Amino acid sequence: MSSPNPLAIELNETLRDGCPAAHDLLSERGRALYFPRGILSQSAEAREKAHRFDATIGVATEAGGPMALPSVLAHLGDIPPADALNYAPASGRPGLRDAWRAKLLEENPAMRDCSFGRPIVTHAITHGLALVGDLFVDPGDRIVVPDKLWGNYRLTYEVRLGGRIETFNTYAGSGSSAGFDVDALHAALRAGADKTVLLLNFPNNPTGYMPTRAEVEGMREAIVAAADAGQKLLVVCDDAYFGLTYDDDALEESPFGLLSGAHPRVLCVKLDGATKELFVWGLRCGFISFGLPACDAPGPVLEALEKKVMGAIRGGISNCANLSQTIVEAALGSATLEAERAQKRELLRARARRVREVVEREAYRDSWDVYPFNAGYFMCISVKGVDAEALRLHLLDKEGVGVIALGKSDIRVAFSCLEVEDIEPVFEAIDRSIRALR
Ligand SMILES: Cc1ncc(COP(=O)(O)O)c(C=O)c1O
Repeated sequence: MSSPNPLAIELNETLRDGCPAAHDLLSERGRALYFPRGILSQSAEAREKAHRFDATIGVATEAGGPMALPSVLAHLGDIPPADALNYAPASGRPGLRDAWRAKLLEENPAMRDCSFGRPIVTHAITHGLALVGDLFVDPGDRIVVPDKLWGNYRLTYEVRLGGRIETFNTYAGSGSSAGFDVDALHAALRAGADKTVLLLNFPNNPTGYMPTRAEVEGMREAIVAAADAGQKLLVVCDDAYFGLTYDDDALEESPFGLLSGAHPRVLCVKLDGATKELFVWGLRCGFISFGLPACDAPGPVLEALEKKVMGAIRGGISNCANLSQTIVEAALGSATLEAERAQKRELLRARARRVREVVEREAYRDSWDVYPFNAGYFMCISVKGVDAEALRLHLLDKEGVGVIALGKSDIRVAFSCLEVEDIEPVFEAIDRSIRALR
């Protein structure tokens, strides 16, 4: 890579002086990232001062607003054309960022004690994961993840960036007493040398597991022990399914609030979004927030990290869709949003309960073991005596039922897509198929 831009050097110095962990964790690309002053800042200045004519930015205007075609406007409803058609800022619409921050504080009591900035808008969580990679993952870097993981992490970190995903056992114990394997996390972190990216996804895809508060405290101890031993750690919380918890012992807030600020050598990142939480998958609207270790002046550090993220957004996709942001911002301002979300959560909770009633039946003992689940969209079973992929194909061909096969023996069922009355027939079909294949 050519020598860094002076703006990148300035950001790196701010990070080095204000938060050495954030500086030291940066990848080579992360160190080179900056947000250019060119057209964007000249255009921002023009918005403030060019009171006669603004001929700076690459959009087309007419009669004081964006140029627009009636065939497009016809579908915008009451959304003002400027809020749909103009570019959004690289960091996202300011109102949306503030509204998401307020939501985070409302729903995550532990975050009220964290040093974190205004969430930066991403093109949903997948993009947030990629941005984390851009800033922090060099070829060969170790990314530690529980072994029940969203497979796309491999494309994001291994294929795109040459990172090395290392997994550890997700669950300790068995049956109803099983829980998150804190000891396995300790061992995985202890095995690291210099730099580790720890990627935690709860509620989890594929298992639908959300840890207890005690388990997250155990995670914090493991992180602190590794940092005490000299490692620098980036802890990434993928909170895609945040808020969908169905049991009393599942932690109701994000682990981020409990892990952030754990140690001077630990930087935390929270990735979350409207996609799954507000059921707007295709709007592609997510957020990235940084949780700093204790430092004297968090403001400039958060600003420097934000500029680097903005540079990565600018260089990758320029900015995120304004229309999606406008819709999510308006929804967050709706007085009835909370009641609407609660109603959908209850629906999903009823499905999760029904799944539990059905899958744990004595009659299915020989067919599968159930991984603990208490949250999210999914649950997993480990099937006995048949290959998961062969079972999946049999279910498709003979029963017209679609599930996901993972590895040799795991089957993931998205109960988020099943009506309560569909749940029993689905598991009956799985059981029937297992017996047929055997
Ligand atoms: C764990 C996890 N993280 C992230 C995502 C991607 O979310 P988004 O649609 O917001 O990119 C998914 C989607 O399946 C997921 O399961």
